[in-house]
Amino acid sequence: MFEVRELNVGYGPVQVLWDVSLKVEQGEIVSVLGPNGAGKSTLLRTALGMLRPMETDKANSITYREQRIDGLSPEQIVRLGIALITEEKHLFPDMTVLDNLKMGAYIKRAKGKRGESLELIFNLFPRLEERKNQMARTLSGGERQMLAIGRALMSKPDLLMIDEPSLGLQPLLITKIFNTIKEIKEKGVTILMVEQNVYFSLEISDRAYVLENGKIVMEGQGKELLANDHIRKAYLAM
Ligand SMILES: Nc1ncnc2c1ncn2[C@@H]1O[C@H](COP(=O)(O)OP(=O)(O)OP(=O)(O)O)[C@@H](O)[C@H]1O
Ligand SMILES: [Mg+2]
Repeated sequence: MFEVRELNVGYGPVQVLWDVSLKVEQGEIVSVLGPNGAGKSTLLRTALGMLRPMETDKANSITYREQRIDGLSPEQIVRLGIALITEEKHLFPDMTVLDNLKMGAYIKRAKGKRGESLELIFNLFPRLEERKNQMARTLSGGERQMLAIGRALMSKPDLLMIDEPSLGLQPLLITKIFNTIKEIKEKGVTILMVEQNVYFSLEISDRAYVLENGKIVMEGQGKELLANDHIRKAYLAM
């Protein structure tokens, strides 16, 4: 469904991603794991057209359903059915929860399905329904994460990319967010996520890639990587 081939990306002269290749099949949850500064967010930003690959003699291609999307704008990519929840969330602080959600459904494929999408989101996150008339700026960190996920779902994506879904959340809420991601997958949405919480993400991932210093150093099935020595030592402190 989605494929990145030999991707090289940098900020000015500083190269951050080196020949990164990965694939996501329809219906999978795929995680990209790695330490701070490895280039995880850079990878997602490039996939959504917010950054451009470098000019090199490598493939530097990003394809979605067999169509090249590198070179498209974020706007065009969202219209194809890909949504990204960034680290920054970009909520509208002075709008209500409900209006923030409605803003997520501005593209054509989503507009007519607003009511249906809202019902699904309030089912996943009853808390958002309780707070629907509250200003986004007054939400707690966990509620903001729920709202960001909800708003992305309002665009009816087929592929959802999430940057650090568990960042800053307390353990109970982390479990809840990961369970919800699994539920979203069961509703037919394919998921590519980037995470530092290696244990929980491997638990729910079909497959995962490990990104270190801008390079993919390992890949495998979630369960397989959970048992891997390097992963256990470097990421699970076992
Ligand atoms: N706008 C920018 N300009 C220059 N360098 C940047 C910029 N954004 C990120 N970088 C650098 O690129 C590298 C990768 O950053 P990136 O945000 O992709 O890492 P990450 O894996 O998402 O890390 P984290 O887990 O801390 O979120 C870092 O060394 C960072 O300092
Ligand atoms: Mg990041």
